[in-house]
Amino acid sequence: MNLPLAQRLQRIPPYPFREIAEIKAKMIAEGKEPIDFGIGDPDLPTPDYVIDALYKAAQDPATHPYDESGFGISEYKQAVADFMAKRFGVQLSTDGQIQGTIGCKESLAHIIWAYIDPSDVVLVPDPAYSVYKVQATWCGGATFPMPLRSENGFLPDLDAIPLPVRKAAKLMFLNYPNNPTGAVADLDFFRQVVDFARENEILVVHDCAYSEVCYDGYKTHSILEVEGAADVAIEMHSLSKTFNMTGWRVAWACGGAPFVEALSKAKSNVDSGTFMAIQHAAVAALEGYDQFIGPLQAEYQKRRDALVDGLNSLGWNLEAPKATFYVWALIPKNYATAADFARDLLAKCGMLVIPGAVYGEYGEGFVRFSLTIKGEDKVAQIEQAIEAIGSNMTLSW
Ligand SMILES: Cc1ncc(COP(=O)(O)O)c(C=O)c1O
Repeated sequence: MNLPLAQRLQRIPPYPFREIAEIKAKMIAEGKEPIDFGIGDPDLPTPDYVIDALYKAAQDPATHPYDESGFGISEYKQAVADFMAKRFGVQLSTDGQIQGTIGCKESLAHIIWAYIDPSDVVLVPDPAYSVYKVQATWCGGATFPMPLRSENGFLPDLDAIPLPVRKAAKLMFLNYPNNPTGAVADLDFFRQVVDFARENEILVVHDCAYSEVCYDGYKTHSILEVEGAADVAIEMHSLSKTFNMTGWRVAWACGGAPFVEALSKAKSNVDSGTFMAIQHAAVAALEGYDQFIGPLQAEYQKRRDALVDGLNSLGWNLEAPKATFYVWALIPKNYATAADFARDLLAKCGMLVIPGAVYGEYGEGFVRFSLTIKGEDKVAQIEQAIEAIGSNMTLSW
């Protein structure tokens, strides 16, 4: 049977990382395992104390049915509220301002389904995590790109958004610390965003998935630190990157009660929440944050320094990112496109990076290196990759 896909799915390109995973699988099958700076998925295990908490919770049959609370079990919502208060100084009510989610990806998709009708306008950063644009398009929405340029610190220029677009826009996506650029946003920028959103009646969806992957003592911000932000914003957080728990699918959305309620209405008609034993494990994870996070940040910082210093020794002029496990690097002048450069890195140096155009038009000219590297001795692999680039590639600047 040759059943056509729904037209709305035909409009959507394949999930980019699925194709990259296929290239990698093919190389491994041919016995040529690449040094993998590709997908940003933590290579370290979930901490034992979280696994122990899951094991204990899973033995209690009370965790086995559907979570009928809808928003998440009370212990989880309380742990989230405590975390947001301690980490960001943001006070949230556990009654309506917090929604447990099955990863940020799920909540980012469902908030769009909650608000976007065909032809509604959605402001989307470019380059960006693909889900914002894809889901908005899937809903029939019209996306308007907000270019993230290096000269603007990879922040969108709000003044450059044309008046009719501002007036038509219903949602704005932001993501700081940023994938793929590694940029961070300060509170001044978030204040401007909140004013802009209030003036133009736009809901800001801030994807904060990388909030805890930060370096040199730098503390990232929640948009909810801005006074009155909950009137115009919802923020998506996740345990995925903070606690090496990407496969567990546990996260939360928080912010203005009407937006949390809307998300809840959308998602409760699609999924039935996160397994309650996993929510209990997430409580343990959050409670152990202070002990766990320092060594994790130090580990990525070691890799970041090896990669950035190594690339700079070859002629790049990179600033070390303050946050995320990504290094966003301009391609050398002798390459026309990032895909050409990435192809050569794979063929001549056996290393996998992501061409920036995967993240949007304004990502062209860059490649993204992820510091989440599988296999033994990560720093040695980074040094090996730098040596291979130095020996096998011609770079002009
Ligand atoms: C910017 C961004 N947001 C969200 C996610 C997904 O997070 P989660 O595992 O919580 O769904 C990712 C995953 O790579 C991401 O890069």
